[in-house]
Amino acid sequence: MKVNGEEYRTIWMEGSTVFMIEQNQLPFKFEIFEAPTYFDTCFAISTMIVRGAGALGAAAGFAMAQAFMEAPEDGFMDYVLQAKDDIEATRPTAQNLFYATGRVFSAGKNSVDDAIKEAQLIANEDARDSRLIGQNGMELIEEEARILTHCNAGWLAFVNYGTALSPIYLAHKDGKELFVYVDETRPRGQGARLTAWELKNENINHKIIPDNAAAYYMAKGEVDMVIVGADRIARNGDTANKIGTLEKAILAKEFNIPFYVAAPTSTFDMDCHYGTDIEIEYRHEEEVLFQTGLDNNGNLNKFLVCSPGSEALNPSFDVTPKKYITAFITEKGIIKPNTQSIMSICKK
Ligand code: MRU
Repeated sequence: MKVNGEEYRTIWMEGSTVFMIEQNQLPFKFEIFEAPTYFDTCFAISTMIVRGAGALGAAAGFAMAQAFMEAPEDGFMDYVLQAKDDIEATRPTAQNLFYATGRVFSAGKNSVDDAIKEAQLIANEDARDSRLIGQNGMELIEEEARILTHCNAGWLAFVNYGTALSPIYLAHKDGKELFVYVDETRPRGQGARLTAWELKNENINHKIIPDNAAAYYMAKGEVDMVIVGADRIARNGDTANKIGTLEKAILAKEFNIPFYVAAPTSTFDMDCHYGTDIEIEYRHEEEVLFQTGLDNNGNLNKFLVCSPGSEALNPSFDVTPKKYITAFITEKGIIKPNTQSIMSICKK
């Protein structure tokens, strides 16, 4: 993805330092955050400097590799085991995070070099698979399609390209006229801040809509399809994604609108049988009570936007039962949301 004419990935590792786009500063400032140790990378994950399923996977893989590079000779295994626990405790829902720690940990048992290679491979695979998802998904998008998306499953949520937005990018490059409804995605505003910023960079027609406006446009017949990403998909097809996805899926079914979930096979969790088994992350109530934005001096600041003294609940994800999903768009093709189809594309 190009920013100010320069090609960027969302996250990368050079030597033992992990570099990532500081997503809490976007769309107001474009900054790169440097994480020299696995501890710093964990900090970046839990504070959402880096976020989104695939980017979290890459970050977790790099953090695991950093732990192997840092571990002292004396107590080597204790150090990396503790690091694995720390990395996996940062955010519980995104499957890619656990997929990456598992792979890099196994490789690192062989050698530190193997851990580094594996982490780089995971990041490269993520970029490759996102592009393939775009190629597979673009055939579903018709000329002049009006597409609704929730949260940010674009290139910022992955190493490059993204999932839900990847077919949109490729269809647009192919010359199709498109329009994207961008759900603002309260409380953190990943749609209003990140998806809108990405689409603007790509010159794709879009408008940000309030989270509760989807039914209005769907009822008027002005939404042709919904494409969202996924944080974890159970082997039966139930899908965890950003809070608010479930209501969009129910609405889409009511109004007969196809509802697609775009995700790489690394997001499918073969050990998780049903959506009810997926752990849902609860984040701090401050994210609901306060909003961050530019103040009059152009500085990023936090503002209280709720009744002072009231408390808030902040579940970060919900689970969409497979019956609401038209199909999964994966790097291996478009598949139906059932166990048999999922098993056929996932190795385990
Ligand atoms: O909490 P986040 O921003 O890390 O949430 C993850 C997501 O970006 C979304 O749920 C997204 O739609 C799927 S992951 C690309």
